[in-house]
Amino acid sequence: MAKSKWRAADLPDQSGRTVIVTGASGGIGLVTARELARAGARVVLAVRDVARGSAAAASIAGRTEVRRLDVSDLGSVRSFVDQWTGEVDVLVNNAGVMDIPLSRTAEGFDLLTATNYLGPFVLTNLLLPRITDRVVHVGSQLHRMGHARPDDLNWQRRPYRRQGAYSDSKLDLMLFSLELQRRLTEAGSTVRSLVAHPGIATTNLVSHSPANRVNRFRILLNDPEHGALPTLFAATQDLPGNSYVGPDGPGGIKGYPRTGTPSRAARDGGTAARLWAATETLIGTAARPATPSRDPLSH
Ligand SMILES: NC(=O)c1ccc[n+]([C@@H]2O[C@H](COP(=O)([O-])OP(=O)(O)OC[C@H]3O[C@@H](n4cnc5c(N)ncnc54)[C@H](OP(=O)(O)O)[C@@H]3O)[C@@H](O)[C@H]2O)c1
Repeated sequence: MAKSKWRAADLPDQSGRTVIVTGASGGIGLVTARELARAGARVVLAVRDVARGSAAAASIAGRTEVRRLDVSDLGSVRSFVDQWTGEVDVLVNNAGVMDIPLSRTAEGFDLLTATNYLGPFVLTNLLLPRITDRVVHVGSQLHRMGHARPDDLNWQRRPYRRQGAYSDSKLDLMLFSLELQRRLTEAGSTVRSLVAHPGIATTNLVSHSPANRVNRFRILLNDPEHGALPTLFAATQDLPGNSYVGPDGPGGIKGYPRTGTPSRAARDGGTAARLWAATETLIGTAARPATPSRDPLSH
């Protein structure tokens, strides 16, 4: 394991690079966008609330754009990709929700799973022909509590559990990264898929729920600035595909970025392949590129 005291000030020059950060209107996404723009990248803040996104962009020095993207709405994801022209160096799948009650999107998907897993799955697959460097998925140590359920991804056969749904969605995201990297490697692509997790960072993620109690112990947690470091590290450092980057402190809760090892369940290639197939069955053709010949996975 590589250990470091790497900080945002250590970011290499990002001039000439384009980065999309989903959920960049606050929390870790905003810090990620701000630091990448400061280092010279053109940063696209992909946000569900354009007013909030514009306010966030106004607080950032550097080259930014705000575009509407509700990752829980697969129609919005497709429309975002349809309007994208040119290449993108890095996609950061940061947007996420936690500890929310069961609700269904207009397309019938559980909102939490749609936001944390299905949307990133579709966005990544549709954008893949334009991505030149890497995809960074923002995961969580709670993936270790998760259970992959390709047979009931959409919480239709079991009682919904809001914390379980979050852990499961983050495990699903990690299995997606594993299978995506396997497919990219098999296709001879140099594009990488990596996972970063912020430890526990004092953001708005659980501000609406009793889980917010954890934010009373600020001294033990990462602030959003440190919470964004693993994402920034994964987005810019020369790391192998499917690296897992998180804080170096005890339990991976706070500290500076280092690479680590995901749970055994997150490294199970058979489950990852089954999950990919089940996801495609659930969402239909939503993640299929309109021009398959440009798809790096279709070699
Ligand atoms: N904070 C932690 O301790 C922690 C730990 C592990 C993993 N994470 C992960 O880190 C990522 C960032 O979370 P955070 O802590 O920065 O939380 P946050 O402050 O609540 O920020 C979440 C961001 O996601 C956006 N978002 C939510 N649903 C969206 C949707 N459907 N479409 C587009 N954007 C959407 C939010 O937009 P609005 O501004 O419109 O609400 C917000 O900008 C998440 O994936 C989270 O699971 C966080």
